[in-house]
Amino acid sequence: MSQYADWFYLVAAILFILSLKGLSSPVGARMGNLYGMIGMGIAVVITFIHTPETATFMMLVAMAAGAAIGIYKAKTVEMTQMPETVALMHSLVGLAAVLIAIAAVNHEGITHDAIHRFELFIGCFVGAITFTASVVAYLKLAGKAGSKPLKAPWVKSVQIGLAAGMFVFGIIYFITESNFAFIVMTAFALVLGYFLIAPIGGGDMPVVVSMLNSYSGWAAAGIGFTLNNSVLIICGSLVGSSGAILSYIMCKAMNRSLMNVIFGGMGGSDAVASGDSGEEKTYKSGSPEDAAFLMSNADSVVIVPGYGLAVARAQHALQEFASLLEEAGVKVRYAIHPVAGRMPGHMNVLLAEAEVPYENVMEMEEINSDFATTDVVLVIGANDVVNPAAKNDPASPIYGMPILEANKARTVLVVKRSMATGYAGLDNDLFYMDKTMMIFGDAKKVVEEMTKGLSH
Ligand code: TAP
Repeated sequence: MSQYADWFYLVAAILFILSLKGLSSPVGARMGNLYGMIGMGIAVVITFIHTPETATFMMLVAMAAGAAIGIYKAKTVEMTQMPETVALMHSLVGLAAVLIAIAAVNHEGITHDAIHRFELFIGCFVGAITFTASVVAYLKLAGKAGSKPLKAPWVKSVQIGLAAGMFVFGIIYFITESNFAFIVMTAFALVLGYFLIAPIGGGDMPVVVSMLNSYSGWAAAGIGFTLNNSVLIICGSLVGSSGAILSYIMCKAMNRSLMNVIFGGMGGSDAVASGDSGEEKTYKSGSPEDAAFLMSNADSVVIVPGYGLAVARAQHALQEFASLLEEAGVKVRYAIHPVAGRMPGHMNVLLAEAEVPYENVMEMEEINSDFATTDVVLVIGANDVVNPAAKNDPASPIYGMPILEANKARTVLVVKRSMATGYAGLDNDLFYMDKTMMIFGDAKKVVEEMTKGLSH
């Protein structure tokens, strides 16, 4: 059987590549998921068959525990908790890399040649950084630790000191094969993981999570070299490079560089004051019925969904409302900002769940030039992604981030519960424009009221 293992691993790797290809579009996503599941199934079964008999029981226990936790998590996790769940999963990949590397280093009777020692060093420090960094990202995203960045003049020196310590002890291990040096190197990497993420503000967490996704892939590839397992090397490299590409795409969507995200830091709650001159600003508010009336008399409506739509689980009610508008002859489209919500593709997933036709869902670049000729924009649970300060206010922490230019439409309707700020903690001038009407309330309730309003 063992001589066939690499062939099965190759099939699994091909299925993973097909899976990524499928996941790159909403139409192919279901098949993509299926390919991924079959590939992973093959990889697990072949690895299990390969396990020495002495380890079979331990492996069964580990698989049963992992499967039980996985099934429980998949059934209970809320869509809005996805980013922190993903961060937590990355931390486990990092931890696995560290444990495997330490086990390999301490394995009695095995000497490691230079290349192997180099792989162990790289795999272990990438895994250790991924582990603590992902735990910090998890705590920040889950609201268990403040999203405010750790800002102090000494942070950079500490980062450099830890990185230097990590490399020095890594080199000592490489030269002397000292297990103690390996453990000290690992400890430096673990603390460095904390200090790499703590200075990054909540607003930059999406990029951080995809960066950690990339790190966890490289850590898995490192384990693959340690264990001489080809599917782990291929699979880890796929995750590593796709995570890196995603980080790049997200940075582009926010008009920031990766270096700026990692070392620049965007304000967490200390950014609230920006854009708030202290003067009393006035806004108009209306009822869901008023909003329904305006939209039913429009030729074109563009819906901008955001994080609040996910919180209220209003996607089905919204789709029902949009269909009624379409039946009444209104052209309805959805505008999706690349970082709307709390994870990449968040809004696309919600809209697909509600069976919104794909051709009505527009990316930011496709729709931005259409806002000026749009009668009504319905901003529903979105805030930062339509904040004009990103274009007009060089002092704003989100200045330079491309936005959906909802402010250019003839009429703007904004559904949210209060005048509270969004994720970046910034006030939004869109809400105070003469052509804007606020409709206060939970998104789902408001949309249901609007639907009732249509029939009157
Ligand atoms: P936000 O700027 O966070 O605004 C969401 C708005 O929804 C809030 O102002 C809130 O106002 C409203 N809201 C919350 N619950 C609601 C409910 N039940 N009903 C109605 N409204 C509700 O969202 P956005 O415009 O989607 O922007 C996303 C932000 O998150 C960006 O800053 C982005 O960088 C960041 N981020 C993105 C990601 C990814 S990858 N997408 C991950 C992490 C962070 P009220 O409280 O007044 O209701």
